[in-house]
Amino acid sequence: MTDHARQPKLAADPATPLAGAEIVVAVGGGIAAYKACELVRLLTKAGAQVTVVMTRRAQKFVGALTFQALSGRAVMTELIDPGQEHDIGHIRVADRADLMIVAPATANLIARLAAGMADDAVTAVALATRAPLLIAPSMNVNMWANPLTAANVRRLIDVAGAHVVGPGDGFLACRWTGPGRLAEPADIVAAAARLRTAPDLAGRRIVITAGPTHEPIDPVRYLGNRSSGKMGYALAAAAMQRGAAVTLIAGPTALPDPVGVDVVHVEDARAMERALADHAWGGDAVIMAAAIADFRPLAAADKKLKRTEIGLAPTIALDANPDLLAGLGAERARRGGGPLLVGFAAETHDVVNYARAKLAAKGCDLVIANDVSAPDAGFAVDTNRVIAVDAGGAVELPFGSKAAVAHRILDVVAPRLR
Ligand code: CTP
Repeated sequence: MTDHARQPKLAADPATPLAGAEIVVAVGGGIAAYKACELVRLLTKAGAQVTVVMTRRAQKFVGALTFQALSGRAVMTELIDPGQEHDIGHIRVADRADLMIVAPATANLIARLAAGMADDAVTAVALATRAPLLIAPSMNVNMWANPLTAANVRRLIDVAGAHVVGPGDGFLACRWTGPGRLAEPADIVAAAARLRTAPDLAGRRIVITAGPTHEPIDPVRYLGNRSSGKMGYALAAAAMQRGAAVTLIAGPTALPDPVGVDVVHVEDARAMERALADHAWGGDAVIMAAAIADFRPLAAADKKLKRTEIGLAPTIALDANPDLLAGLGAERARRGGGPLLVGFAAETHDVVNYARAKLAAKGCDLVIANDVSAPDAGFAVDTNRVIAVDAGGAVELPFGSKAAVAHRILDVVAPRLR
């Protein structure tokens, strides 16, 4: 074999809602058509098989070749394709779809869809498919506000069972500001994932902590740890997809806020403690994925410490932070009830034994343990390998992306909610 030997392709993640899904992305003729490129890229990255169908006007904004490259499939631009009609292309595309996303859905395209027309590839596939329809409108503010558009959207929802994502509010290409802007591609993907997920957490309120805490030394320095927040953020997104109302209490991370989740940003352990006091009680579960610093500088300086003042061999006196999970466990015992408590245990050895000890010490119901010394698990990587430990025993959950592992953790959590 040479250096050019073929590399096995990473399998699409088999455990997330969009993996393996056949998705039709119908691109309408609006300036936001360029954002559909990012949408197709994100869907493909999530493991979906994407077929792009374009209106004639959409092709004036973005070339079919771009979508062909992004989706890895032929793009359907005509209702009648002389080379393809032996198997009636639009019916084949419609039949195999698990979901059809219309993005951007212009006022004109919404009107044609609502009228049940089938005069081009997009409307014909939409009329022929039995897959759910997700519409992402994009148009001028006044077109969106027009009662005719509102009536057309209502008809798509009521008669065709369509789902709508957006439009967002903001500065539009037509120079107006207001609603009419295509939902962000990540928001459309989240809406699609939600449509593809059984809502087994509907009506549940789940609080999740994520990320590290930064314990201030002075206004510019802190003590911290290597947690990226990825596992907690993945849990928040997965719980949202499954229908839960999610509050994410996040320490400092570089991650974007997950779509559809209430995010409370905090810096240090004590701020996380206050946020938990505000949100933890009254919910169904608290999942403590945050890597909370166990110690903080005894007194944070209110001015930047100067090198000359610090001296050559400085020491930082530390004070212990409260154990937030143990605090919740003790408070729940005092109250005689409260949310399901799920802890995490980051270990480098003797994983299950330490997890079991944490279960007892912190008074929680479940500990999700991981070996942070493994190269494909724990801090800052995109995959994880965890063991769910409760009073009854320990179960290793399937290895996978943090998104997939988040769903497997929720599979364990969901049936325990009263
Ligand atoms: N935790 C907490 N408050 C802290 C430290 C940790 O609530 N001050 C929570 C974490 O969010 C996690 C669990 O406790 O859910 C276990 O965290 P971990 O760092 O593995 O354990 P520690 O209790 O800090 O024990 P050790 O560092 O000795 O392993």
